[in-house]
Amino acid sequence: MNFFARRPWDLPQRQHTPEAVYADRKLHRREFLETTGISGLAAGLGLSLAGCGRASKEEVQSAGGVQTVSKPDKIYPAQRENRNPKFEYGRTESVEQDTAEFTNFYEFAASKSSWRYVGKFQPDPWKVEITGLCSKPMTLDMDDFYQHPGLKWESRDYRHRCVETWAMCVPWTGFALRDLIRAVEPTASAKYVKFVTFDKPHEAPHMEARTFPWPYTEGLTLAEATNELAFVATGLYGHPLPKQNGAPIRIVLPWKYGFKSIKSIVRIELTDTAPPTFWNTINSAEYDFEANVNPEVPHPRWSQRTEWMLGSREVFNTVRYNGYGDWVGKLYPA
Ligand code: MTE
Repeated sequence: MNFFARRPWDLPQRQHTPEAVYADRKLHRREFLETTGISGLAAGLGLSLAGCGRASKEEVQSAGGVQTVSKPDKIYPAQRENRNPKFEYGRTESVEQDTAEFTNFYEFAASKSSWRYVGKFQPDPWKVEITGLCSKPMTLDMDDFYQHPGLKWESRDYRHRCVETWAMCVPWTGFALRDLIRAVEPTASAKYVKFVTFDKPHEAPHMEARTFPWPYTEGLTLAEATNELAFVATGLYGHPLPKQNGAPIRIVLPWKYGFKSIKSIVRIELTDTAPPTFWNTINSAEYDFEANVNPEVPHPRWSQRTEWMLGSREVFNTVRYNGYGDWVGKLYPA
């Protein structure tokens, strides 16, 4: 193995980790080693760093857990026949363990190994408040979601593109965000949708330091949120979401960079102004509100022209809107 022949997609993590996160001095030591890539180097040299290196499938699964749901027989295990045929990867599906082991969930860790830090997280019971500029605000627990007559449950094969240039192809299970928004009846003044993640530092170790503007928030225009592609997921690979992938419920927006796909949400709020977002607040120069996948607009520290697949490391050219232009192109007149 040649450590010095760096491939184009082998970005040192300090380059693709946001500077604010990289500068956070409160990282756990192991996390620091993982974040800087030192653990990988050490493993390659045959050195042993306790707990680092590739974990077994069982180890990752038992840490992330597969959540219990009140009506598992109704939705899970989700069958392949429930996949909406409109959505195809056009590539090979990613391997489940790769997507469980390599995640971005800053509430738990600044490294990709958030599965190691999710042990105390309690995604059950869970409630989501849908509120703001609407006539029928509601608070739903997971049972209410599974039984809601206005939500059509299905699985969708979506490509996912992180701003850091990694990508994956995974099957989500859930329902169209627009059906949930319709159910609360937005008023005429509603123009944006704000999403908020839980704020529980005692369950999520990286939140304890309070150096970041927790809770994680994201936003969309109402037109984006009511586009057919915008999805609310409670499952991945046919079973309920593992903790590190956003249990028990998250948003999935395949035409935008992955940081818009906010995990473990507790509130959805209809507003008349664009809500501040987590990354915008930390560094407004790096990430804009829209954040659509676009090969022509480089990140300040790296090109967005290509992307690499988790697991196989196959490299593809990046496509505008991550290839979903037929769905969303009309939302963004030139
Ligand atoms: N949501 C919350 N609450 N916290 C996060 O750190 N990371 C985002 C997004 N949603 C993040 C989040 C980023 S940067 C990406 S790329 C995707 O989640 C990754 O989803 P995955 O880890 O399930 O692949």
